[in-house]
Amino acid sequence: MTSILINISIRRTSANNSATVIYMYVCLCQGVTDGQIREAIMEGCCSYREVRETLGVASKCGKCACLAKEVVRETLTELQTSQAALAYPAEFSAA
Ligand code: FES
Repeated sequence: MTSILINISIRRTSANNSATVIYMYVCLCQGVTDGQIREAIMEGCCSYREVRETLGVASKCGKCACLAKEVVRETLTELQTSQAALAYPAEFSAA
């Protein structure tokens, strides 16, 4: 059996055209984008399982599971890295 990966993206431009964000559909069956997965994690999902339960990703044909897991792993790593950077104390100097 041969599977074909289809990359469908959504380009969203802000009101002042200053930033362009491109979203990629991860799950075609449920219409879930990588942006929605990242947002679910930012709103509290801490694992692939929680993202799956929240968004329904990979709950039908399951062909998106590997990509969804990759997006979850990547986002959690980015989040941990950014939180580690915040762990350093801020420096203040009396002028
Ligand atoms: S593509 Fe995600 S369940 Fe089918």
